[in-house]
Amino acid sequence: MPVTAFDLVVFGAAGDLSLRKLIPALFHRWRDNQIPAESKIVGVSRTAMDDDAFRKLAIESFRKFHPDEIIDDSEWAAFASQLYYAELDAVKEGGEGWARLKDLLSGGEDKQRVFYLALAPGLYGAVSANIDAAGLKSPGARIVLEKPIGTDLQSAHAINEAVGAVFEEESIFRIDHYLGKETVQNLIVLRFMNSLFEPVWNANAIDHIEITVAESIGAGGRASYYDKAGALRDMVQNHLLQLLCLVAMEPPLDLSPDTLRDEKIKVLRALRPITKDNARQTTVRGQYGKGAADSEVAPGYAEELGAESTTETFVAIKANIDNWRWKGMPIYLRTGKRMKDRRSEIIIQFKEVAHALINDGGPLPPTRMVIRLQPDEGVRLLLVTKDPGPGGMRLRYVPLNLSYADAFKARYPDAYERLLMAVVRGDLALFMRRDEVEAAWRWVDGILEAWEADGTPAYAYAAGTEGPAQAAMMLDRDGREWFEGV
Ligand code: BG6
Repeated sequence: MPVTAFDLVVFGAAGDLSLRKLIPALFHRWRDNQIPAESKIVGVSRTAMDDDAFRKLAIESFRKFHPDEIIDDSEWAAFASQLYYAELDAVKEGGEGWARLKDLLSGGEDKQRVFYLALAPGLYGAVSANIDAAGLKSPGARIVLEKPIGTDLQSAHAINEAVGAVFEEESIFRIDHYLGKETVQNLIVLRFMNSLFEPVWNANAIDHIEITVAESIGAGGRASYYDKAGALRDMVQNHLLQLLCLVAMEPPLDLSPDTLRDEKIKVLRALRPITKDNARQTTVRGQYGKGAADSEVAPGYAEELGAESTTETFVAIKANIDNWRWKGMPIYLRTGKRMKDRRSEIIIQFKEVAHALINDGGPLPPTRMVIRLQPDEGVRLLLVTKDPGPGGMRLRYVPLNLSYADAFKARYPDAYERLLMAVVRGDLALFMRRDEVEAAWRWVDGILEAWEADGTPAYAYAAGTEGPAQAAMMLDRDGREWFEGV
């Protein structure tokens, strides 16, 4: 469905996110006839370029980052005729660049205007103020902020205040691109549109939940940003906590943005604080050393960074939600770079049967639901069944398998495609509200403070493995194991 005509200004247009994700996402929406012909996409950055140079950079980057996609020149030229560029330093008020931007947008006041800040979060406040000072904030204009919003609660609060001084909360779209992923959206459908699950979705029936977001890539070219962030700030504060909220929240009354976000925030507020006294039992930090990736020798993190560092590239956490539904049941979170493979999944492990009626000598595996977010999206229910054939009752663990690739042959839009169109439509349900971001930081800040006070080390793990042994030991102490597939 086409959206209303809009103008989108991307600040940080020559950066990685813009070239790797945003422009390609816009191209795909254009190809699907979703971008009206009168819409303009204006790239803004400090790099000296004109429209043509920007268009050239955009297609070259597209081909580099998405080598398997075929785009012919005439198709690109048609899309690129809607791409423009303004060279300006967005943290400086006024000047020629802002005048050029104003020129490009003039006459478009009745279109939906969107400013996308693909910039360092510390700049969000100043850039918002300068957009306003340049007279570009047309009625109903929206602003999109990339994660991370700040580096802790205090800085997040300051950013929210500064942007909030210019834009109303209803016009601020805080991106967590995991909320735009197909399978993440499906979580809501799966949980609440199937009568099977809700009665057993609690600590009485479930033994524990695992959320793993493993990446095979290293920090690579982003090491200088990453070193200041680490896995807890880069992934847990946002993506993993959002997944946790969707898995654990109470059924919302409807899917309107505030109803949904109210339920998510209740989960965040119920997270048991992690303190210096329990940080070693409930968290594990890790950092990859030299190892293997894609069957080749991969350098360690410090080597990539070019300096020694104590930043964690892996984190595992035993979280507890102290509310009626989840009391006493742990949720294990784990994420890391340079792990064995790229794999994001949520595992719901149900309790063992009360009495093992059949004992065939082997271990009795529990019922598990595996929600695979990427790659190979799908849902598997791992059940114990009878091994067919005569000769007694032998048990076998087999999946009831819903593979997205087999069930639906369609191409899935990238998360950014969905999210960009949601901004234009004004659908805030897929974005984080201010109090949600701050509640997530409050819990994460507690962990950061606990680590600092305790001097929690980052244990080494070899690139291409499942992370440090201490992460396995954390579950072992509870008599459990991470689920690594069957
Ligand atoms: C980003 C993080 O938010 O998410 C990156 O900053 C990470 O470090 C990326 O690689 C992972 O996203 P995806 O969609 O590839 O799982």
